[in-house]
Amino acid sequence: MKFGHFDDEAREYVITTPCTPYPWINYLGTEDFFSLISHTGGGYCFYRDARFRRLLRYRYNNSPADVGGRALYIRDGDDVWTPAWMPMKSTLERYECRHGLGTTKIQGSRNGVTAEMFYLVPLGETAEVCRLTLTNESSVVKTLKVFSFVEFCLWNAWDDQTNFQRNFSTGEVEIDGSAIYHVTEYRERRNHYAVFGVNAPIAGFDTDRETFLGLYNGLHEPEVVLEGAPRNSLASGWAPIGSHCLEVSLAPGESRDFVFVLGYVENPADDKWEQPGVVNKQPARALMARFSETAQVEATVAELRDHWASLLEISTVESPDERLNRMVNTWNPYQCMVTFNMSRSASYFESGIGRGMGFRDSNQDLLGFVHLVPERARQRIIDIASTQFADGSAYHQYQPLTKRGNNDIGSGFNDDPLWLIIGVVAYIKETGDFDILSEEVPFDNDEANTATLFEHLRRSFHFTLENLGPHGLPLIGRADWNDCLNLNCFSETPDEPYQTTANREGRTAESVFIAGQFVYTAPDYADLAEYMGFAEEAGAARKHAARMEGAISEHGWDGDWFLRAYDFFGQKVGSRECEEGQIFIEPQGFCVMAGVGVDDGRALRALDSVAERLATPYGIVLNQPAYSRYHVELGEISSYPPGYKENAGIFCHNNPWVMIAETRVGRGDRAFDYYKRIAPAYLQEISEIHRTEPYVYSQMVAGRDAVREGEAKNSWLTGTAAWNYVAIAHHILGIRPEFDGLRVSPCIGAEIPNFTVTRRCRGALYRIRVTNSLKHGEPLLKVNGEAAKGTLVPYAPAGETVDIDCET
Ligand code: GLC
Ligand code: GLC
Repeated sequence: MKFGHFDDEAREYVITTPCTPYPWINYLGTEDFFSLISHTGGGYCFYRDARFRRLLRYRYNNSPADVGGRALYIRDGDDVWTPAWMPMKSTLERYECRHGLGTTKIQGSRNGVTAEMFYLVPLGETAEVCRLTLTNESSVVKTLKVFSFVEFCLWNAWDDQTNFQRNFSTGEVEIDGSAIYHVTEYRERRNHYAVFGVNAPIAGFDTDRETFLGLYNGLHEPEVVLEGAPRNSLASGWAPIGSHCLEVSLAPGESRDFVFVLGYVENPADDKWEQPGVVNKQPARALMARFSETAQVEATVAELRDHWASLLEISTVESPDERLNRMVNTWNPYQCMVTFNMSRSASYFESGIGRGMGFRDSNQDLLGFVHLVPERARQRIIDIASTQFADGSAYHQYQPLTKRGNNDIGSGFNDDPLWLIIGVVAYIKETGDFDILSEEVPFDNDEANTATLFEHLRRSFHFTLENLGPHGLPLIGRADWNDCLNLNCFSETPDEPYQTTANREGRTAESVFIAGQFVYTAPDYADLAEYMGFAEEAGAARKHAARMEGAISEHGWDGDWFLRAYDFFGQKVGSRECEEGQIFIEPQGFCVMAGVGVDDGRALRALDSVAERLATPYGIVLNQPAYSRYHVELGEISSYPPGYKENAGIFCHNNPWVMIAETRVGRGDRAFDYYKRIAPAYLQEISEIHRTEPYVYSQMVAGRDAVREGEAKNSWLTGTAAWNYVAIAHHILGIRPEFDGLRVSPCIGAEIPNFTVTRRCRGALYRIRVTNSLKHGEPLLKVNGEAAKGTLVPYAPAGETVDIDCET
């Protein structure tokens, strides 16, 4: 609680000191325009693609952390300060930041003046709006000068950070009243520009960074602000910025609002110019007119609140544990929506340059948001499937702007195809929209080569079968879910990426993880095949699954746990026979989720081995013992120092597989225990150790072999969000959509004696009261007062409300 607390009513996290252990950020925007904003106002924004359409420049890995992008300065007499604390690190009498759902409010006070900056990206707009409220709490008249500041990125963020011989000469701006236009490259091939305006007359402006700051000054000592006079500089090349100077006089007790709009505007290609050489500003003027008054901002804030309220009411829980409630009701689904929007592109750990939408990542992310935005999930599925190759394999990534496969990253990750089935199955179970299976979808975005979505799934399924190794287990290819298990790579050259470098040709390295994933996927795939009228295919799929299960039993079981893989030479990976890396988490989770070994005690043994060897107070580490040296035959996994990332770090993404597996064998107490070890709301008290935001999951927490055990990294954009949501909502609380009905099957252990879930699904509303008495092997249900058979509640017609009593 040292750094802040939850405000559950407002659905906000309240940060009470700027000195958090790491910048704690939020995302604004739900459609096309997004902003990253930290608790001190740092960050940047972009239109659709953080690489190609970035508006603000941000310096990653900088010292001090979290500068660049935007800032706001106040000059009160001779006193200059920054109400968001950074960049001047001003001493503030009061500071508070509230990160809410798509909104961030930062407030700072000094010498009787309070400045509150309220940021949002309104629905339907391609702009970041900031309402600034200045209040004079002193007993004297305050005459203030306010300097806004944004630093423009020259659009392509990669080029912006590398191509200085060109970029130092291309920057251009226009000024029009209180609006600053960033028009770099508009003269040639771009038909978009950025505008930064304020709804008040200005006393001056600056657009040239060097003039504003001084060449040898940092953002904490801008010359113009320190001198108190804007210079009306016009950027010509170098680094264009936008800074307004406002003069404000406030009587004691008086408050005034200003509205800043930072927008992205596109003109039709044939309507780019107002006059020769003068940018067409019509759409920008219209945009600013929509925010010329505070009341207009208030209206969009209310709209945004309603938007989130209606999304989040789709699935809620009330339990005696407030931390559980706030994770399930607010923060976990919120993070799922952010990963839906961002995939792995832009966070404080992802530069927004390198990674587009991952094939496997996006399919898994879908599991966490499909119930919130099913129509958009549908579109996402079509987009992903359109990047699949005709042989069933897939580009590992695609670019969000073009929706085309990214050649630079290539393909060959042999788990990829199966995730498409898992994603589509989740979508259909949620929505009942079997029609999607008949959609015509291209391969490799080639409209001349299309097939139904079901055919895409068929090719996914058979891709695995056509690529089996000597033990009848799936070939791993470049890697499977674990990007760093590179069994065919043999990289000895530091400058080549593990992910893309040429692999050895070989058909030996096999993955027990993919085998488990296959067995997990097969029954649902078979059901879909049957639904489509392909009874033979369905039967064959079930046989293939049984055969694969046999292969796992024969060649994938190590005595007390599931083996991880066979390497290029046919040697075991993740076996007691290995010197290091004897046990891995992934196959224990996925094989048990698939039901392998559930009937004969091996599942329990595997999970007990996880508890003995991999579980730590901060979560379950990926493997043990950690690799202490580089193993060229294993690849990147052994490149990380022990305890970090895939080398025995706590990869929070796969912890929920073990949680789900524990529910599969009926051990709800263990499942919930594992849940609490990594759920951020439970980690608030150890924020100094954990360091990242206590309201969202991070990809990785350093494991017990690491020097910095318990320290998290890569917050926000991780499949952790979706899988933990699935683990808690579907398996531990136990309410999940299936093809024919809603499964009600809680498995949470003794700690939560009762809870209520409200779940909307396919238009009906289910109110589920659970008495968790732990008396019955299978929960007893009453549906609308009538005792029911089993735990599957048939779907009710849209519009109906179903009351369910469940006793465990
Ligand atoms: C990263 C990747 C994901 C991969 C995981 C394990 O989170 O985004 O695709 O499965 O690492 O390597
Ligand atoms: C590295 C990381 C892994 C991530 C991959 C993405 O291998 O260790 O977590 O998935 O990069 O390219």
